Formats: sequence, C-alpha cells, structure tokens
Amino acid sequence: MKTSVCIIGGGPSGLMLSQLLHLKGIDTIVLERQSREYVLSRIRAGVLEHGFAELMREAQCGERMDREGEIHDGFFIAHEGQLDRVDLHKHSGGNSVVVYGQTELTRDLYEGRDRMKGQVIHNAEDVQPHDLTTDTPYVTYRDGDEIIRIDCDFVIGADGFHGVSRKSIPKDKITEYEKVYPFGWLGVLSRTPPVSPELVYAKHERGFALCSLRSQVLSRYYIQVPLTDNVEDWSDDAFWAELKRRLPAELAAQLVTGPSIEKSIAPLRSFVAEPMRYGKLFLAGDAAHIVPPTGARGLNSAASDIYYLYHAMLQHYQQGDSSGLDGYSAKALARVWKAQRFSWWMTTMLHTFPEAISYDQKLQQTDLAYLLSSEKALGSLAENYVGLPF
Ligand code: FAD
Ligand code: PHB
Repeated sequence: MKTSVCIIGGGPSGLMLSQLLHLKGIDTIVLERQSREYVLSRIRAGVLEHGFAELMREAQCGERMDREGEIHDGFFIAHEGQLDRVDLHKHSGGNSVVVYGQTELTRDLYEGRDRMKGQVIHNAEDVQPHDLTTDTPYVTYRDGDEIIRIDCDFVIGADGFHGVSRKSIPKDKITEYEKVYPFGWLGVLSRTPPVSPELVYAKHERGFALCSLRSQVLSRYYIQVPLTDNVEDWSDDAFWAELKRRLPAELAAQLVTGPSIEKSIAPLRSFVAEPMRYGKLFLAGDAAHIVPPTGARGLNSAASDIYYLYHAMLQHYQQGDSSGLDGYSAKALARVWKAQRFSWWMTTMLHTFPEAISYDQKLQQTDLAYLLSSEKALGSLAENYVGLPF
C-alpha cells in the first residue's frame, strides 16, 4: 500500500490530523492497534479549550459538539469547607471552555472519517515504522499471518504514551523529562445529575477531589488515591462516602449517588520527549508529552501539535516549503512546556502530598490564598485554563 502520510494511532490526535489533511486532498492511512469499540469505550477528557473546539469545526466534525457540548464560563475551587468561583470569562478577557467528552469527540471524528471514506485500519498488530531517516520511510503491521507494508512520505506518531513511535527513536536522539506523582485519580462515571452546574476542584487534607460532568444526566467524579490502591478495593459506596468527605458539607448534601458505569484509576505523570521529530517521523499528542489531568491540558496540548503539523504539512504539499516541518518540534514544545508548567502548578497546589512537611503545606495554602485574592493571579489561571493561543 502507498499513502502520503501514515498515521500511527487512532485516538483524537491521529483521527483529527487525518480528517484535516484529507479535507485538503492529502492522502492518509491511520493504523490503530485496538478495535473501534475499544477506543470508544475509554473514558478520558471532559474539558476542551476553545482552540480545540475550533479545530473540530475546521475538521467538519463540530456539529454535535456545538449542539450538545456545554459552554462553561467558570469553575469552583472548594477548600476549607467553602466554595470560591473562578470566573474564566471575566479573567480571560471573554473566553470559556466546552464540556464535551473525549469519547463523544472521538466518535464524531470516526464518523467524519467514515463520511469521507478515510482509511482507518483497526486491530493493526505489531505496527513498526522503518527507514525513518531516509527519503523512503515505510510502516509495517500484521493482519493475522500477513505482514502489510505501507510506503509513505511521512510517519506521524500519534499512538499515545505507550505507543511504538517514540520507542522507535534511538535513545541517543531523544531526551525524556519525567515526573511521577505519588498518587493517582480514581474516576467514576455515573448516570446521575451533576452535583454542581460547573466543575468543582476540591482541595482537602484527605486528598484532592474533582466533580465534573458530561451532561445534565451524566456525572464524572474523581478522588486522589494512593498508587497502591486497586479499583477492586473501591466499592461504589466507599467511593461516594470518600467523595462526600472531601466536599464542603452543603455541596456533599446535594450529591446524588448511583451505580458506577465506569470506574478506573489513572496514575499522574508529567512527561516530555524532545525533540518531537526524528527524520520523517513526527510525534504528536500523548506520544510526546503527558500531563497530570488537573489542568485539563492533555487533549488540548495534542490539539496544538495537530494544528502546527497540519499547517506545516499544507505548506509542504501545497507550496513545496518544508520550513514549517523543520520548525514543528521547537514550536510545539514551546506551548507544550507551558501546559506542563500549568498542570504541575495546579496539581501541586490542590493535591495532598504524602511526603509534604508542614512548611510545604503552609506554602500550598498560601499559593491558593494568593490566587483567590489576586486579579492578576486569577488572570494567569484563566488564560492558561481556557488555552494559550496556538
Ligand atoms: P491517545 O488518546 O492515547 O490515543 C493513542 C491511540 O494510539 C490509542 O487509540 C491507542 O490504542 C493507539 N495505539 C497505541 N499503541 C499503538 C500501536 N503500537 N500501534 C497502533 N496504535 C497504537 N485532557 C484534556 O485536555 N482535558 C481533560 O479534561 C482531560 N481529562 C483526562 C482525564 C483522565 C482520567 C485522563 C487519563 C486523561 C485526561 N486528559 C484530559 C488527557 C487526554 O485524554 C489525552 O491527552 C488524549 O487522549 C491524548 O490523545 P492522543 O490521541 O494523543 O492519544
Ligand atoms: C473530566 O471531566 O474528565 C475532567 C475535567 C477536568 C479535568 C480533568 C478531567 O481537569
């Protein structure tokens, strides 16, 4: 087989790039290791910055998001039994975020690919890129007993943190920066009305908690748990009881509980691989960088990578100018590191760290008190949360 751009990974990054390039007449093939059903059963992000929403519209996949997604102009921070509202709209100069699940957005992108008869190959086993530093790179995968080869101009590694693309780069050609946090998030999805119309980020000495939502009938809640905990350790009842303990009493009293329809633990990690290019291979999204979910930056950082790559590819194919591709890694990393800083800061300010000494705890409390009392600090939070410009 032959294509212009072979994309490894059929998550939001890979599908979005494939859709955008195809709309401009550039041929792509997406190789996804899992089945479509499996990809669509993963529950992940819920908050999209407005730049991401714009990209969905440009990809002609934004119709349902615009109809069903909720525009949020603010969120709450709960601490010491009280709730403070962060007015994102006011402090960011008129911006907001869209609450729309990654699962739904991925479904919309798949439907976009179907409409255009785009090639997305599922259950592609043993995907492997080859000859990345030559003018004739190719990718192989296994379908049953058959090894299939795809010749291409470029390979895009959009296969997430555990994918094969980043691992194909020789160790001496890539530098990895990593910080692993000593806790994870236990998440529950339930068919219950959300406890609050806007998200609530709760700082509590027993650990962080987050009240989020997917719609007015579907709620998503998280609590900070030790890395040693397993999902099986947490019954639904135990989860709801612990969540209530971490919320201000008035809010906890309004919490409607119900059976979980999904429950999982995600470890928290900050990670960046530099550079995001090796020969004809370009990394994008979680394949190159991970943030703890506290600042809702992960998917949104993937979006800016895709935006830069898409425009660089257009420049290459339409004008024969490769300067965009040559500058991709530096440009993408400049924004990636800002998302890293913001996510690390939000995580550090709101979580309970097992090793923290009393001095650290005092600083943490002061960080939050300063934030809530300073228009300038709130402005900084808001401009990062709604998304820095691409
Ligand atoms: P992925 O979604 O990981 O997709 C990669 C794809 O590649 C997968 O489908 C995988 O099956 C496939 N793949 C892997 N290996 C191979 C291989 N060898 N061959 C072929 N295919 C392969 N971000 C936000 O912006 N806002 C939020 O509110 C938010 N909340 C989050 C909450 C949680 C609990 C978690 C875990 C994450 C959250 N994120 C959030 C982060 C967000 O989900 C990720 O950043 C996003 O999924 C990245 O998309 P991606 O396409 O780059 O990678
Ligand atoms: C979610 O709804 O899953 C979500 C929302 C905000 C975050 C993280 C996750 O910061």
